[in-house]
Amino acid sequence: MHRLNRGQVIPPELPEPETYAGPEDFSRLHRPWQGAEFQKCLTPAVRANTMLSPQKLYLLRKLFVSTLGLPGDVFEAGAGSGGSARLMLDSLLARGVKKRMWVLDTFAGYPEADAARDGQHVRPQQCQCNSEAEVTALLANPAVEVRVVAGRIPATIAQVSTTSLCFAHIDVNLHQPTRAATEFCWERLVPGGVMVFDDYGWPATFGARTAIDEVCAARGAEVICLPETTQAFLIKR
Ligand SMILES: C[S@@+](CC[C@H](N)C(=O)[O-])C[C@H]1O[C@@H](n2cnc3c(N)ncnc32)[C@H](O)[C@@H]1O
Repeated sequence: MHRLNRGQVIPPELPEPETYAGPEDFSRLHRPWQGAEFQKCLTPAVRANTMLSPQKLYLLRKLFVSTLGLPGDVFEAGAGSGGSARLMLDSLLARGVKKRMWVLDTFAGYPEADAARDGQHVRPQQCQCNSEAEVTALLANPAVEVRVVAGRIPATIAQVSTTSLCFAHIDVNLHQPTRAATEFCWERLVPGGVMVFDDYGWPATFGARTAIDEVCAARGAEVICLPETTQAFLIKR
């Protein structure tokens, strides 16, 4: 029988007893987003073009892939430099799944500042990433139709001519576009479809969280806040 310091016994069923450091040690938690398998998904094209941590990208990809058997398009509000969309696109390409992707951004940062809803810290043009042309090039591929829609949400939402979505990633940080995108996607999300919110737990984006809570409360949708990332998600029943 293996024993640790302080008399702790290593459970005999552990596959790797040498890695067992005791029930109070959180330094050896299983973290697949750091593992070799997931690192393969973090290609240079993804890494160089996203603000999301590997932990957040891992969750985004896992939930995204879980919806690929459902009908409906894919939607992202807040492409930034395109890295999170590219991760999703790569997942489609790797599986040969032909879903249409809608990718929205101003491509000029925040279009306006609404201090009452988003806080005094918000300034127009903050969070500016790559241009529409650069993101379009990043997402260009011969197999999956990607529609890049440039401009300010909610005005641009009308250009998204889809009736059903299997997955939506909402990452626009601010109250008004988060609210408009969440409402739009909720109406079109198929049963079992998933929405991931990037900005739910971050204090600086409390306006986005308020918007998500308002939309979901009005529709009886339950938002699941993820521990220790800024993300949350919902599954449409
Ligand atoms: C945090 S970034 C997105 C990060 C990106 N998903 C990634 O992988 O790094 C937030 C984006 O929301 C966009 N945005 C904010 N308000 C917007 C609005 N009203 N309409 C369209 N895009 C908006 C900004 O231009 C910015 O690119």
